[in-house]
Amino acid sequence: MSGCQMDANTVRPIRFFNGTCQMLDQRLLPAEVVWHNYKDYQAVAEAIRNMVVRGAPAIGVAAAIGAWLGARDIETESSEEFFAEFTRICDLLVATRPTAVNLSWALERMKRFAHANLDRTVLELKIGLEFEALAIAQEDEQRNKKMGRHGEGLIPDGARILTHCNAGALATAGYGTALGVIRTAVAAGKKVSVIVDETRPFLQGARLTTWELQKDKIPVTLICDNAAGYLMSQGEIDCVIVGADRISANGDVANKIGTYTVAVLAKEHNIPFYVAAPISTIDLSLSDGSQIPIEERDAREITHFKDVQLAPEEIAVRNPAFDVTPNRLVTAIITEHGVAQGSYRKNLAEFVSKG
Ligand code: MRU
Repeated sequence: MSGCQMDANTVRPIRFFNGTCQMLDQRLLPAEVVWHNYKDYQAVAEAIRNMVVRGAPAIGVAAAIGAWLGARDIETESSEEFFAEFTRICDLLVATRPTAVNLSWALERMKRFAHANLDRTVLELKIGLEFEALAIAQEDEQRNKKMGRHGEGLIPDGARILTHCNAGALATAGYGTALGVIRTAVAAGKKVSVIVDETRPFLQGARLTTWELQKDKIPVTLICDNAAGYLMSQGEIDCVIVGADRISANGDVANKIGTYTVAVLAKEHNIPFYVAAPISTIDLSLSDGSQIPIEERDAREITHFKDVQLAPEEIAVRNPAFDVTPNRLVTAIITEHGVAQGSYRKNLAEFVSKG
């Protein structure tokens, strides 16, 4: 991201400089490392929808940058007309994926900035919105590092940690949420190893989490999603840590499909189940997880692998992309403002109020 200090080896899935946005195509990793250029909001919306960029905080950052690209191209001298068109662009971006609340969190922040500055010229609004998008990205990475510091105390030295999906640098502006906690534990000198669920059908675990951890030389072992219970029963998992796409006020957690299954298994085996997420993932407007919208994706993600057909033609398919883990199965929720344990409703509200 322009204007911020970078550690040389850190993966960042979104770059934004000189009015151009580049995104790492996460559909192609790890076989190919391909960056695409984005010059307008429609192309960014498409990249979010088809998962060039994915992961709750990362799609929030991408949407904010998309909103700025849209703002930049609005042709009017009137701030009111500008705001009406900007709102239309944000509405289009927010509709790209329904479950991760980070998308609307980032776009609401962009709209709030524009609305609060309607007395400025359109040019000033455009410049301000570019800085706002950059700030959203930079703060996300800083918040992940804080989250890592709060969470690493929960990870014992020598822990064998199970994770599901990808809650790493690739899913954020950088560093990661669940993987950020693991990275901080490693930086603190703990010798941990990570067991990664492959995460059917998009294979975020097999393709992305393994790639990130291998780059960081953190010991990593890939398993089939359905092997997690067996490994737990054999005493081979010490704790579970995952990210989240939306957390309701009572601490119910929407995350990648299969997370709920892992949480039930962890409870059965008395294994702590941790969730790491920034406050941009907490949705206090929803009292509990039953209100979280769950995205259903294309059947082809299941019936095919790339162009190879795996299932019979015309087969009926359900492809929910997320599930909801009830708060009773969650041992703790790690945020940038601290660790919530037990009384989630009170703790989460307190963390959100800190901004
Ligand atoms: O469909 P995806 O790949 O966008 O889903 C991502 C996840 O479910 C992640 O676990 C979640 O966004 C946490 S990211 C820090």
